[in-house]
Amino acid sequence: MPKWLDNAIFYEIYPQSFRDTNADGIGDFPGILEKLDYIRDLGCNALWINPCFASPFGDAGYDVSDYYRAAPRYGTNEDLKRIFDEAHRRDIRVLLDLVPGHTALDHPWFKASMLAEKNPYTDRYIWTDNIWERPDGLDCLRGISDRDGACAVNFFSHQPALNYGCYKVEKSWQQPMDAPGPRATLEAMKDVMRFWLRLGCDGFRVDMAGCMVKNDPERRGTILLWQEVRAFLDREFPEAAIISEWGEPDKSLEGGFHMDFLLHGGPSHYDDLFRCEEPFFSGRGRGDASKFAAQYEKYMEQTGGKGLICIPSGNHDTERLAPALQGGELKLAFAFLLTMPGAPFIYYGDEIGMRYVEGLTSVEGGYHRTGARTPMQWDGSINAGFSAAAPDRLYIPLDGDPDRPNVQAQMADLGSLYHEIKRLIAVRQAHEALQSGGGIRFVFAQENRCPLAYIRTGGGESLLVILNPSLEMVSFPGAFAPSGSVYCFGGEAKFNPGLVTAPPCSAGIYRL
Ligand code: GLC
Ligand code: CA
Repeated sequence: MPKWLDNAIFYEIYPQSFRDTNADGIGDFPGILEKLDYIRDLGCNALWINPCFASPFGDAGYDVSDYYRAAPRYGTNEDLKRIFDEAHRRDIRVLLDLVPGHTALDHPWFKASMLAEKNPYTDRYIWTDNIWERPDGLDCLRGISDRDGACAVNFFSHQPALNYGCYKVEKSWQQPMDAPGPRATLEAMKDVMRFWLRLGCDGFRVDMAGCMVKNDPERRGTILLWQEVRAFLDREFPEAAIISEWGEPDKSLEGGFHMDFLLHGGPSHYDDLFRCEEPFFSGRGRGDASKFAAQYEKYMEQTGGKGLICIPSGNHDTERLAPALQGGELKLAFAFLLTMPGAPFIYYGDEIGMRYVEGLTSVEGGYHRTGARTPMQWDGSINAGFSAAAPDRLYIPLDGDPDRPNVQAQMADLGSLYHEIKRLIAVRQAHEALQSGGGIRFVFAQENRCPLAYIRTGGGESLLVILNPSLEMVSFPGAFAPSGSVYCFGGEAKFNPGLVTAPPCSAGIYRL
């Protein structure tokens, strides 16, 4: 496990919406360079940049047409290298987004694969034997090639699935993982990784990592595939890190990923905390963190320190925390995110409470996700300092709320979410117990009850974290006699014999 993950705190950049420096309405690499100091000042020491490769942008770049070339609208490969270099000068690591499962329709591999004549790319994608046969259990694309066959797709119908083989081979068109076609695909993807790692990136967030191998209900084949990739990285790039979009750490970490995300949807109950009818972090205090905690403990047991389980504040695929959560609720949500094990991920703009914007027309395959991808709000100037383009030329319209938050205003206000997060990051970085690999034990996580309390351990220290999002004072049984607090928001808890009482809307970290 690369050492730098021990205290890594990631910041996710959606490049098209971050900062536009040439007034074309779309964020770009120079914009990222310009804001590296901002990211370091916030306290983040790692980046995840969403796909920034050549693409027709039918799915915001998750449809790659050239894995070796930066998308011209963001800049050049040299600009990207400058981001790696300048980030490293600031002790910031950079993960790129690898989309190994599918390409765009106009990728040269796919164009060749569509030809009726056999060629080196015939088996690069998953095709059935004839146009009338659909690939079982998969969506497919039909009728656009001379080649007879239906081609499996992974997500949108313009994202044909690359062929890594099938775990169970039951049909004539299914190929085993060790057939020449699937082997060549995997080697091609290792070459892509080599290329960017040699240029200076520090690893990859891996898109849809859990469904590479098909007809693989238990994911055994996919696990084997990633184990091979991990062995390759350990040999050639031992400092590189990979994190999976998978959401089942018991499987992904076995597959060799250093980290996996807990995702919206999926079995983790992540949504119970932030994004459901009654989220745990809502001040109404009607939410439930118990199922999350139980599942989390189970994952910790199953993975036994093999890698990190990472909890993101949000991402480009889901609604933002705000406006469903506001004010102190957001601060408490971050007190949680920044005191849990694993490397935290902050989605750009979440550090100022940027809002999910309802009702936007879809942009580049965003659909309901578009509202979570609006331009970063830097200041109170035109276009919130995102771009000097005419407002109607922005990639996605800005949040139109006159009270929309911005970085400049929050930096000037010590009571802002921005400053609370900065404080929390500083506390995390001062205490090994709170970092990626520290232990965790939940001491209070009862159904439909507040607070949530847990003990983090590491570096010879035990820290008790108590989070009470509700607007009521709450108590729970526990015999603790802390020697002091290392962080407190909304007032300190009272420790009476056998009973702990936490003030309304409060977060505290206490030294045991
Ligand atoms: C992942 C990405 C998402 C994309 C999809 C297809 O879920 O996060 O944005 O649309 O994969 O690549
Ligand atoms: Ca631009």
